[in-house]
Amino acid sequence: MPIRLEPIKKDNWRKAIKLQVADDQKGFVAPNYYSIIEASYEPESLKSCAAYDGDEMVGYTMYGYDADSNPRQYWIVRLMVSQNQQGKGYGRMIMHQVMNDLKQQPGCDTIYISFAPENDTARALYSKLGFVDTGRVEDGETVYKLEI
Ligand SMILES: CC(C)(COP(=O)(O)OP(=O)(O)OC[C@H]1O[C@@H](n2cnc3c(N)ncnc32)[C@H](O)[C@@H]1OP(=O)(O)O)[C@@H](O)C(=O)NCCC(=O)NCCS
Repeated sequence: MPIRLEPIKKDNWRKAIKLQVADDQKGFVAPNYYSIIEASYEPESLKSCAAYDGDEMVGYTMYGYDADSNPRQYWIVRLMVSQNQQGKGYGRMIMHQVMNDLKQQPGCDTIYISFAPENDTARALYSKLGFVDTGRVEDGETVYKLEI
């Protein structure tokens, strides 16, 4: 599997905030600078990672548990692949890596993910990975889950 996740740190955050999705996808995911700030204030619950193919940074993801939930609810909070790197299988590979990491976390029996209802690419990707609709809508986003 060529994709490698590395934590956002001093030497890669500048590159990560430059990764962009297409203009018509901008409503689907927060800008990476926002996610990086968010994760930096919740380091115990959130992992903030750049995705690499070799030396090339191709995407970004943030995942972990909702610090307000009891028992813990695990979420893939952000996922994006750089506009010029999409459609090459990276999104699916990042998801596999994140799912494998989450499955090893204490008490993780379900993984949640949400997306804008009009985001057909995300819906197709998550469905193929085994996620199913919870019937919940949160902050205008459809919530899917994967039971492990
Ligand atoms: C969603 C996203 C991460 C997918 O990444 P990607 O690297 O392009 O996806 P992959 O190449 O791994 O493709 C995985 C699946 O996505 C779907 N997909 C990918 N490109 C698609 C397209 N242009 N149209 C429809 N479906 C598409 C397909 O179901 C594909 O499965 P397949 O290979 O069996 O056909 C990427 O499109 C993205 O960053 N979008 C903008 C931000 C976003 O929407 N993030 C998710 C927020 S919840």
